[in-house]
Formats: sequence, structure tokens, C-alpha cells
Amino acid sequence: MSIERKLARLREQSLVRSRRLVESPCGPEVRVAGKTLLAFASNDYLGLAADPALVAAAREGAALYGVGAGASHLVSGHYAAHHELEARLAAFVGLERALFFSSGYMANLGVITSLAGRDDAVFSDELNHASLIDGIRLSGAEKHIYPHLDLAALAAMLDACQRPGKLVVSDAVFGMDGDQANLPALLELCERHDAWLVVDDAHGFGIEGVDGRGSLSRFGIASKRVVYMGTLGKAAGVAGAFVAGPGQVVEWLLQSARSYIFTTGSPPLLAHALLTGIDLIEQGEERRRRLRQLIAQLRQGLNFRRWRLPESSTAIQPVIIGENSEALQVGAALLAAGLWVPVIRPPTVPAGTARLRISLSAAHTPAQVERLVSALMELE
Ligand SMILES: Cc1ncc(COP(=O)(O)O)c(C=O)c1O
Repeated sequence: MSIERKLARLREQSLVRSRRLVESPCGPEVRVAGKTLLAFASNDYLGLAADPALVAAAREGAALYGVGAGASHLVSGHYAAHHELEARLAAFVGLERALFFSSGYMANLGVITSLAGRDDAVFSDELNHASLIDGIRLSGAEKHIYPHLDLAALAAMLDACQRPGKLVVSDAVFGMDGDQANLPALLELCERHDAWLVVDDAHGFGIEGVDGRGSLSRFGIASKRVVYMGTLGKAAGVAGAFVAGPGQVVEWLLQSARSYIFTTGSPPLLAHALLTGIDLIEQGEERRRRLRQLIAQLRQGLNFRRWRLPESSTAIQPVIIGENSEALQVGAALLAAGLWVPVIRPPTVPAGTARLRISLSAAHTPAQVERLVSALMELE
């Protein structure tokens, strides 16, 4: 099919995506095309992306290291700030060693392709993030997709599998639904079947667990079977990601993960800023408390007749509308009222479940959440 035809098909299916040009720092209120919008769109859950302490740390990092790393980590692009950040992250999440990647997408590609190959089998929740799916495809491993959160189905698949190497992969907090995996039960299955458990905590790191240490801390999990991935562009407010686990596993990633080896190191100034970001997370209990209150306020206020607000106790609150076209209309009506809530359509979510993805931040005020609630209740 020609590219022209492919683009026409996207238009016919209401699937064309576009980018909105933001002219101010990330925050509850952003300027877009000269107009101020109240945004429930970013993953800046703690409101750190434009925090003055982080901006100052980034400036300090630029003064110390310049702007670019100049090369990949294994050539000459590994700086003291990267190294210090890895040690800090490993200690923070309670694992032996950590490796800093330039993004969560790269980290997931790296971890799966390093731990699984053609002879192995990977078991993946059907709603896992695209980067995990792409990692599985790239690994060439046998692929088993289990229905969302269905551990009985996963157990049956593990029972039936003859492959020697097994890897179970799950988001800890699902990015488009806000619900959470039962990590202790997943770990138990992995122990029974001698499998690795890869946990993608992109939306849990900084929020869940003691002092924001993430979803392993929330469930009190400490196991040599767990390989943990946390991202640093969401609650941590900057960019990048890390994979943490047993020292030997992390050493193997360093030696074999192509998405780590064959890319320029991320600017060391970001790693320097992230050291402050982790401090802010650790001291961020008041921000997390405010976020929990806003989540409760939103859920109490939204009582839909036709649309659906699935169970979610996290900052990600999806409003399931159904058809792409209706979801787009609602998104446009909100925008006309000065509210920016992203409309998420297939293939990011399953067909027929187009939705608004409301994401809350500790930086929102109760009055701002009330404004969103009123607008949505009027529109339904
Ligand atoms: C669950 C999940 N994993 C991984 C990623 C990728 O992280 P990054 O944006 O740092 O590439 C994201 C979001 O982007 C995500 O939601």
C-alpha cells in the first residue's frame, strides 16, 4: 500500500495524530499557541519537571560537564554523574546495581533482548507498554501474551512451556489504565517455574512504596529473580531510565544490551540534575499526599452514566468513551473550554476503548481538579 493510501486510511479511521506546540515549562498550566490551558496531560506526577531546584541542578551540571556526553558509555561517554546516579538509584530501590539508559524505551529493548533469545520464552501481559512488546519481538524469543492481569492464564502457559529460559514481563502500573499488577503473585509464579520477572515501573517509581522507592518497595519484594526498570522522565521530572537487579545481571546488560552500547550517552548534566530529582522524590511525602487527595477528589466527582471510569488508585485515571470519533469530539470540547486532556486511541489501546487519559500531578490544585470534573460532567 502506498504511503498516500496509508495516510488516507488513518484519516478515515480518525487515527491521525498531531503534536501540540507547548511554549512554556511543563506544569498544570501551559501556554499553547498563545493560549493558557489547564493540562492533565503529562506524566510529571510530582510536579518536578520545572522545579527550581532541578533547573538549578541542571545548570550546575552544564557548568560541570558541558552539554553533550560526546560518545557512547563504553567509549568515552560515561561521566562521574552517570556513575554516581547509578549507585544512588540502586541503593534507593534496594537492588545490587543499576544501569542508566537514555530512555525507558531503550532500557526495555535492552533488558529483554539481553535476557531472552531464540531458545527462550517470554510471557507478557496483553496491556504491557509498546517498548516491552518491541523488545520481545526483537529478542526472537517464543512469545506468550496473557490476558490482562490473568494469573491463572499465565500459570497455565508457564506449565505448558518446555523452553529452558523463561521471562515474565509486566508493567507494575499500566500506563493507559492506571491499574496495577499483583507483583507478589507474579513473583511466586516465577519462582515456581524458574523464570525471571522483569518489572516495568515507569509509572510507579517516585510514587509507590516507602519514600517513592517504587512498586517493589510497595509490596516488600526483594528477590534475585527480579529485574527492575524505572523511568526518570515521569515522576523524577527529567529524562532517562534505569535497570536494576543482581550485580551479575546488570554486568551482562552492560556487556550485551545493544540499546545501551550503541548510542551516545545521555548528557551528564541530566544525570547530575537527577541526583537532585531523587532527593526530591525521597523528601516528597507531602507531594505524594497531595496527589492522593486529588485522585480521591476526582474519583468522587466523576459519576458517569455512559462513559466508564475503571478502578485505578494511581495518578492515571482513564475515562473510557469507546469510539474514536466521540473521544476526539470530547477532547476538542474540553480544549475549547481551556482544558487539555489527551485522547488515546488504538493502537495504543484496544479498539473500541478510545479514552481520555487524565493524569494528575501533585502540582494541580483542588480548584483545578474541580474545573475538570465540572466540564466532564457537563459534556457526558
Ligand atoms: C510503561 C512504560 N514503560 C516504558 C516507557 C518508556 O519510557 P520513556 O518515555 O522513558 O522512553 C513508558 C512511557 O513512555 C511507559 O509508560
